[in-house]
Amino acid sequence: MSLRVRVLVWSLILRSFYIQPSQLRAAEAHNEPTYVGARVCAECHTGPASGNQYSLWLASKHSQSYAALTKPEAEQIARLSGARQEPEATVHCLSCHSSAANAEPRQRQRTYRIEDGVQCETCHGPGSEHVARQRAGTRSPCCREELRRPTKQLCLRCHLQQTSHAVVLKARAFDLEQAWREIAHPRPTGWQMGGIPELPASGGNQHPGPKYVGAYTCGQCHRGARFNHQYSRWRRSPHARAWAVLGTPRAREIAREEGVDGDPQRDPRCLRCHTTVGTAPRQLVASTYEIDEGVGCEACHGPGSEYMTEAIMRDRQAARRNGLREVSKEVCKPCHENAHAKAPRAGLSSPALPSNIQWAQ
Ligand code: HEC
Ligand code: HEC
Ligand code: HEC
Ligand code: HEC
Ligand code: HEC
Ligand code: HEC
Ligand code: HEC
Ligand code: HEC
Repeated sequence: MSLRVRVLVWSLILRSFYIQPSQLRAAEAHNEPTYVGARVCAECHTGPASGNQYSLWLASKHSQSYAALTKPEAEQIARLSGARQEPEATVHCLSCHSSAANAEPRQRQRTYRIEDGVQCETCHGPGSEHVARQRAGTRSPCCREELRRPTKQLCLRCHLQQTSHAVVLKARAFDLEQAWREIAHPRPTGWQMGGIPELPASGGNQHPGPKYVGAYTCGQCHRGARFNHQYSRWRRSPHARAWAVLGTPRAREIAREEGVDGDPQRDPRCLRCHTTVGTAPRQLVASTYEIDEGVGCEACHGPGSEYMTEAIMRDRQAARRNGLREVSKEVCKPCHENAHAKAPRAGLSSPALPSNIQWAQ
């Protein structure tokens, strides 16, 4: 290889590893906005007075689109598309199934989570400037410059006919008008900012024993092929939407029938079965726990703060001594037996306990 070719090859290799200082300066000079992730948007865009945007999104397929890349069908699609890595690591798949797939690491804040799939900023553009301005209280009629108002053209960038998908999924054709209505999350008149509610604090201040750390923490290890994609499998299940569905019009209908008025996402009578910790006091949860996870890993496996270190996890006895629970049907019953029995007209499919408890995995 001639020297010039070698220099060229090396500079290409290095460029793929290092951010060029000149690039960084350019980004700073332009004050380029970065991706903050959907939970940051939820700081203001959730709750009934805001139009429940976050919950409507979390209850939609878009929030599961990254998790979908671990379905058996994904492997088939990947094969047909000639992908050489697993779908979760293939930029081609991620470009439609997640946010910021092609962004440089510096364009993603620490709060950004690829696991959230197609999220607010996938459609509205990176939101750091909007968030900074709104947090500072500069309530300018801002957003037209800071954020994108999506057009139908944007949907079609991902929702286009693809042979690989058509062959494997045999899905119905994409109906743009209907899909647009399906994902609608308008602001109501008299719009007000909301936020993800906090758990009620209890009277006492001492709560010894294990604390709930949240499914996202478990998911830091329980992911990938080695762990049989446990986090993504859970993410695709209705349990991961259990809190989100309390923010839908359907939930308000059910709540009315059951004599609960007010916001179901804050009412202990609904939270009891639609979240991991139900009505447990705040002192029982670690700072990493998130109420919006719905029914997370620890709802079935027990609070994890004491057993979740790798050394204990690998030791069955030690894990059980530290609070890891055997999952039997007794665990499912308090939530599933007679759920919504008082609202037969709500038409829930089968409040009875499913016969196969393996379903959860
Ligand atoms: C600190 C509070 C806050 C946070 C966090 C926040 N927003 Fe907003 N957002 C607002 C307020 C307030 C408005 C209304 C401003 C107005 O009417 O001019 C708004 C308006 C919007 C609009 C409407 C724009 C339009 O054309 O009228 C969109 C879209 C939006 N936000 C998306 C987001 C996204 C995406 C995120 C996360 C990246 C986010 N917001 C985070 C407070 C917030
Ligand atoms: C051009 C955008 C685009 C690309 C690239 C793409 N997908 Fe998709 N994918 C979609 C859309 C849109 C859907 C929704 C289903 C439909 O209507 O076709 C979907 C659906 C799926 C589903 C079904 C999800 C479910 O809930 O059942 C799987 C699995 C999937 N894609 C896997 C992949 C894999 C693996 C790759 C990479 C080899 C990939 N996709 C690349 C846009 C894309
Ligand atoms: C799949 C794309 C998509 C995703 C994901 C998405 N939005 Fe939107 N958003 C839209 C579209 C489309 C509109 C309506 C634009 C219009 O009517 O002109 C909209 C409108 C809005 C508005 C303005 C509503 C109004 O009444 O003016 C807000 C605020 C907003 N979105 C916030 C969010 C937040 C917060 C998230 C994430 C929790 C989110 N969006 C996720 C596509 C999306
Ligand atoms: C970045 C790519 C992307 C964009 C942009 C996008 N979507 Fe999607 N959408 C997906 C993927 C991927 C899925 C499949 C998720 C799954 O099934 O796990 C999906 C699923 C959906 C579904 C559910 C389909 C079903 O079979 O239940 C609807 C409805 C939808 N999108 C509407 C829209 C609309 C309306 C827009 C434009 C405002 C839009 N999407 C923009 C990638 C995208
Ligand atoms: C630091 C990484 C890590 C974290 C965090 C973690 N785990 Fe584990 N977990 C492991 C390992 C490693 C194993 C053992 C796997 C094996 O031996 O095949 C395991 C095993 C398990 C098992 C099977 C154990 C048995 O004896 O039957 C369950 C159930 C489990 N973990 C649940 C959880 C839950 C729930 C959380 C969150 C509260 C969690 N784990 C957090 C690494 C972790
Ligand atoms: C005793 C436990 C329990 C309580 C309390 C409870 N739920 Fe549920 N809820 C469930 C179970 C279990 C399901 C799933 C049932 C099924 O799909 O068969 C469910 C499903 C739902 C659904 C999904 C329906 C759908 O169409 O997909 C909504 C919405 C809902 N509940 C709202 C509420 C509201 C609002 C409250 C408070 C008034 C509440 N739930 C209280 C256990 C409960
Ligand atoms: C709805 C209840 C439920 C939820 C939520 C749940 N699991 Fe499980 N999990 C189960 C059941 C049931 C089993 C099977 C137990 C058995 O066979 O004895 C199981 C088994 C496991 C195992 C052992 C698997 C094996 O092959 O031995 C691991 C590890 C695990 N779960 C981790 C998780 C993680 C991580 C999460 C959250 C991302 C989670 N689980 C969420 C009910 C649940
Ligand atoms: C903390 C309460 C809670 C526990 C514990 C729990 N579930 Fe659930 N489960 C729910 C709620 C709430 C829903 C409805 C979520 C939704 O539709 O959005 C649900 C939904 C389901 C569904 C989907 C039903 C449908 O019609 O789509 C199955 C299956 C299921 N659970 C199985 C189990 C099994 C098996 C166990 C025990 C290993 C278990 N659950 C433990 C609360 C719970």
